[in-house]
Amino acid sequence: MKKRYTITSALPYANGPIHIGHLAGAYIPADIYSRYLRLSGHDVCFVCGSDEHGAAIPIRAKKEGTTAQNIIDKYHFIIKESFINFGISFDNYSRTSSKIHHETASGFFKDLNDKNIFIEKESDQLYDASEKQFLADRFVEGECPKCNFDGAYGDQCENCGSTLNPNELINPRSKLSGNKPTLKKTKHWFLPLNNFEPFLKEWFLIEKKDEWKSNVFGQVKSWIQEGLKPRAITRDLDWGIPVPIKEAIGKVLYVWFDAPIGYISATKEWAKREKIDWKPYWQDPKTELVHFIGKDNIVFHCIIFPSILKASNKYILPTNVPANEFLNLEGKKISTSKNWAIWLHEYMEDFPEMQDTLRYVLTANAPENKDNDFTWKDFQAKNNNELVAILGNFINRVVVLTQKYYASKVPSIGALNDKEQDLISEIYSFPKKIGDSIDKFKFREAVNIIIDLARLGNKYLADEEPWKLIKTEDSEKVKTIMNISLQICGVLGLVCEPFLPNTSEKLKTIFNIKSIEWSSISKDSPIVSYKIEKSSLLFRKIEDQEIELQLAKLNESKQLKE
Ligand code: 2FM
Ligand code: ZN
Repeated sequence: MKKRYTITSALPYANGPIHIGHLAGAYIPADIYSRYLRLSGHDVCFVCGSDEHGAAIPIRAKKEGTTAQNIIDKYHFIIKESFINFGISFDNYSRTSSKIHHETASGFFKDLNDKNIFIEKESDQLYDASEKQFLADRFVEGECPKCNFDGAYGDQCENCGSTLNPNELINPRSKLSGNKPTLKKTKHWFLPLNNFEPFLKEWFLIEKKDEWKSNVFGQVKSWIQEGLKPRAITRDLDWGIPVPIKEAIGKVLYVWFDAPIGYISATKEWAKREKIDWKPYWQDPKTELVHFIGKDNIVFHCIIFPSILKASNKYILPTNVPANEFLNLEGKKISTSKNWAIWLHEYMEDFPEMQDTLRYVLTANAPENKDNDFTWKDFQAKNNNELVAILGNFINRVVVLTQKYYASKVPSIGALNDKEQDLISEIYSFPKKIGDSIDKFKFREAVNIIIDLARLGNKYLADEEPWKLIKTEDSEKVKTIMNISLQICGVLGLVCEPFLPNTSEKLKTIFNIKSIEWSSISKDSPIVSYKIEKSSLLFRKIEDQEIELQLAKLNESKQLKE
């Protein structure tokens, strides 16, 4: 059955470029899923955009000696370009500084305020007297009251994942001046999450139990069961979306109130461009809404945003939130401040034309159920031993033999014996197997199945030895062997599209085939053309020196920061 899907990837903060951890966590999986759904004939709207509010932006501006506006203008385009380079097929990549987003987020606040959802409360908040600024979220750091990690932010501890109020931090310090904050009274609007507990228990704990990834389900369950507290959704800041009511002049919306609404604004912007109605993508109960995020964003997507959507009373709730764990780099946590990262724009310079290799390695090694490690050695091994030696090698052998024996014409298939009949059935069972894994968000499993199909092709050639047969009186049989091998290449070309889009394009060109609907890939209409085209190399080997250079670069840039 054809369905409508709204797919979102976490909006990256426009306060710096993006690295491999981002790509592996929220963008490659969402892209694989969206491409697969489109190929399966579903109606897909895949959106994202830059997250341009919140404390991270003015902090970066201060560090670079510039304005917040300059920061978002610079990084929005750098980030957008990286996504284009790595083939992330967003239908729209928007930004939260856009007019449509300001209107949409303000509209949500007004609607919920009119419905008396919020509570207003005056309380003592941390204040930096020298900077004349209240300190919330990333403006303040201190010791986490739950795990004692010294470096927790005012809203969240990245070490244990707990959500925090700034006042809970032990020994807080201002990120602006380094000073110990004082307390000052201020009024804020709170989303009383405690009132949403019955809804969350019903919607989440009962309905979602069996469908969601266990890492996500377990975390959300324990938060709900621990009991939820009201959460301030306004801030005393001069950067953000002004709170759209008279009593709140000078205050802005909390970035985590406006950012997820950015998914809706991005959909509206896209629909306007496409001249279609955005509403079914967010308000039709038959639409599937899937959020791809990293694990530090779980609370916002599984508790806070669903409560906002529920309170609005018009919107659908997420069908699934397949959050990934974290990707480490060479055994250590990726860190922007310590410059322990592989930046996408730098990868592009060092490995031009090798975007699919990075997509492959990050998928085959995705932190789907636990934190995982990226190492340059493993990157080299996966490229050389899997993409080059298995997939590339198979394709190359088939192309070379077809050129040599049949002047690039596709030979016709002869009468098939039982073994060949079984082989053909097996080849065409792969798209379904891969699709089933993608449906379950098991992208590592899916990409391994693709390599298995190439392995099957290599084994077939090795077993049949057409290069020997061609010299015998059975040479006619080689036509069948090559035709079947070409069918494997054709199927590989189609099923690798969600994972390796550039490679898929090349394969479709070499083998003269067109994309067809995923479920129509069947032995009843064999995936072969009448001739093949000249091919360029699909993958190249990565040499030891290239890897040593990357390791040296990583350690050097880290030392520069120290
Ligand atoms: O953690 C982050 O990088 C946030 N900018 C993610 C926002 S996701 C969303 F809700 F917009
Ligand atoms: Zn902690």
